[in-house]
Amino acid sequence: MAKSIPKDFIDSLIDKANIVDIIGNYIKLEKKGNDYWARCPFHSEKTSSFSVSENKQFFHCFGCGAHGNAIGFVMDHTNKTYPEAIESIANTLGIEIPRDKETSKIYEARKILKDSLNDAKKIFENQLKNSENAISYLKERKISGETAKKFQIGYAEDDFQVINKSLSDAYTESNLLDAGLIVKKDKNSYDKFRDRIMFPIHDQSGNIIAFGGRILKEDKEKPMAKYMNSPETSLFSKKRVLYNLHLAKQDKDSKEFLYIVEGYMDVIKLYQAGIKNSVATLGTAVTQENLIQCFKYTREIICCFDGDKAGEKAAWQGVENIMPVIKDGDAISFVFLPENHDPDNIIEKGGIKLWNECVNKKISIEEFIYIKFSKETDLNTAAGKTQYLQKADALLNKLNAKILKDIIYEFLKEKVGVKYIAENHKQKTIVNNKQYKTTSPLQKAILILLHNPNIKINEDLINDFRIKDNQGIVLLKSILDLIKRNKNMKLGGILENFRDDKQAYLSLEKISRMPITDYDYPDKELNACLCLTIKNFLKSKLKDIDPSNLKEFSTAQQEIREIEEEAKNY
Ligand code: GTP
Ligand code: MN
Repeated sequence: MAKSIPKDFIDSLIDKANIVDIIGNYIKLEKKGNDYWARCPFHSEKTSSFSVSENKQFFHCFGCGAHGNAIGFVMDHTNKTYPEAIESIANTLGIEIPRDKETSKIYEARKILKDSLNDAKKIFENQLKNSENAISYLKERKISGETAKKFQIGYAEDDFQVINKSLSDAYTESNLLDAGLIVKKDKNSYDKFRDRIMFPIHDQSGNIIAFGGRILKEDKEKPMAKYMNSPETSLFSKKRVLYNLHLAKQDKDSKEFLYIVEGYMDVIKLYQAGIKNSVATLGTAVTQENLIQCFKYTREIICCFDGDKAGEKAAWQGVENIMPVIKDGDAISFVFLPENHDPDNIIEKGGIKLWNECVNKKISIEEFIYIKFSKETDLNTAAGKTQYLQKADALLNKLNAKILKDIIYEFLKEKVGVKYIAENHKQKTIVNNKQYKTTSPLQKAILILLHNPNIKINEDLINDFRIKDNQGIVLLKSILDLIKRNKNMKLGGILENFRDDKQAYLSLEKISRMPITDYDYPDKELNACLCLTIKNFLKSKLKDIDPSNLKEFSTAQQEIREIEEEAKNY
């Protein structure tokens, strides 16, 4: 799909877009020295190690190693695909994207889907205004008019043909089927949602991508699902979406912590009480996608559950789901509310005060793991303790966060007074963030060029026949060609141009993360690196020469000395 947006358009977009402005749309940047700084949006931290360079049109986090250009930032920060990120940047700049037929088809289809959902939302909102039943239901649940408006709550009438008829002029039947607004049985299509309170579900950018509908009253004679969601569509995937994330992420408290609760109503009632940093899963346990999304905005996730068996089961399912994606530094805790209580009725019963009392009893993920495993084993026996540690081992094996893994394992052992350390948990404290260092003069040369695209390089060195087949030199030359053709190209733009060449892209990406010294004369440094590259080549050749062949051997040694001298002259 990425290929369908012309490459030169992408180059010019990167050239026009200032990365500082683009990133500044999402997080607050502070200028210090030449660069802009912020707390990294990709991992939680207390000090700012996230830097944005206007000169280089590149961002880099010294804490977690995240890095890239404006497009990369938008992709990672907003979970967008490559073309979506380009679209979003182009939109900010008011630039039209030239598209070929295939791309425009995909975009049009998504746009139609979004439009139809938006139109349906308006219809539901209007129907709510005209339905006494629905209004009194919301009143009973103590939802104010203002709150209903904020969450765009609506009502779907008890009628099979409202949406199907009202939207039939603007949309085809297949549009409405794709959007999940109608269903078709035999040859007849009819509204999916009937006689339900309607909750629009938004993506992180605030676009409506689905609905959740709740019945007004439970009828024992005619049992049906209390809540019904839109089906999975090209816009909506239940396990990826969190209800209210688009609003919650804007709340200032979200930077510190984010509540994950179970229901729409819980989020809405918390919001109404002034607690705006909560999101809800859509009837599933917490998923990996949920966790990754949330940690873009917060330092701590507090998962809230009913204090009954079902709540504990859902919470544990979440723990098992998220193990592989937890990162060192992620704080995850759990609140178990009193039995048969959810956030909605806690707020009803005792307002924010009672809510905070409950939240203060939160337990950490390691405590939760301990409670769960100690219940399942008999810790008074050696066999029980062994089983307990085996369970811990099995669970923690799924955890990739190395430091956290050691700490939780220590914690679990200490809890039962066990000194034994399982082999695979011994001393593995490795810092996660790999700071690569240049390992060869050639890498250093490329690094210098990436950061100083306008420097002068000694053409003779670059074209030296002795190193012409070296892969790194070939790469260096193609970067130089690129810079020649695009005088303004910076690090961000250079990398972008290699995106389709996987091998080159990976090495460039790795090199671009290496720390760079601010050389007074980067050109001299680079030329010296090229000399050293030639020297390395000659040295490797020297190994193949038989030292008893004195003449050849000493000529080769002389050649090495010469290039060494030349390097020193730079
Ligand atoms: P209220 O009864 O309106 O307060 O809802 P609740 O949120 O307290 O209900 P509950 O704890 O039973 O459900 C939590 C969440 O699970 C809901 O918000 C829905 O997302 C989902 N859910 C509950 N019941 C159903 C159902 O019957 N079908 C589906 N698909 N999802 C459900
Ligand atoms: Mn409830």
